[in-house]
Amino acid sequence: MRTFTTLRHEREHDLPPTLDADVVMSESFVEHFLGEFTDPGDAVLDPFAGFGTTLAVAESMDRVPYGVEYEADRAEYVRDRVDHPDNVVHGDALELSAYDLPTVDCCLTSPPFMVCGMETNPFENYDGESDYESYLDDVRRAFSELGSVLSPGAPVLVNVVNVKYDGDVTPLAWDVADAVSEVLHFDGEIVVTWEDEGSPDREGAFGYGYDHSYCLVFRKEA
Ligand SMILES: C[S@@+](CC[C@H](N)C(=O)[O-])C[C@H]1O[C@@H](n2cnc3c(N)ncnc32)[C@H](O)[C@@H]1O
Repeated sequence: MRTFTTLRHEREHDLPPTLDADVVMSESFVEHFLGEFTDPGDAVLDPFAGFGTTLAVAESMDRVPYGVEYEADRAEYVRDRVDHPDNVVHGDALELSAYDLPTVDCCLTSPPFMVCGMETNPFENYDGESDYESYLDDVRRAFSELGSVLSPGAPVLVNVVNVKYDGDVTPLAWDVADAVSEVLHFDGEIVVTWEDEGSPDREGAFGYGYDHSYCLVFRKEA
């Protein structure tokens, strides 16, 4: 498989203005990578379900979606979006093994992001305190929990970016790769460039300072 691809960041499904809809997975990202790594009928889990992009696209591709989301209103929103509302847990990815989830064939997700120097906790949706080192410990813990529900050899596809802000770079993608590699086998990265990289003042397709993202590919050992 090629280690780079170009996608279009288009959104067919409008997100609710009443919810804070700043963090979104691109539908084309989900479609592309589920097409490469899964088959119809496979169970696909997003432990950071957000607004349900992974779940809704998975369902439209005849995969069976499962999700965990920390924010009650987002979890409720995702339940309304999918044909499998009972598969959506309002909960904490750090406690994943405590939920009644079946064994899944694939995980496709984007964890909450953090940059060096930030002091709020992304794993409590930017409430409470944390620091970058603790954040990376939580990333490791969340993906370790995930191991309990993955079938042997299951791919784990993680949408993440490096962040450049005000001239400072947080190598978030590389640090997440490093942290998750401690608990799942790292197969490598696929670079995603965005066809519709727009005006220079947007600082990259998603405002993170770069016009590319990564799909990090891990596997549970077979
Ligand atoms: C990057 S967003 C995910 C975007 C999502 N994939 C989408 O399609 O829109 C991260 C999500 O993780 C959620 N989150 C933060 N901490 C969490 C935790 N401890 N457990 C589960 N979800 C969490 C946030 O509320 C946010 O919705």
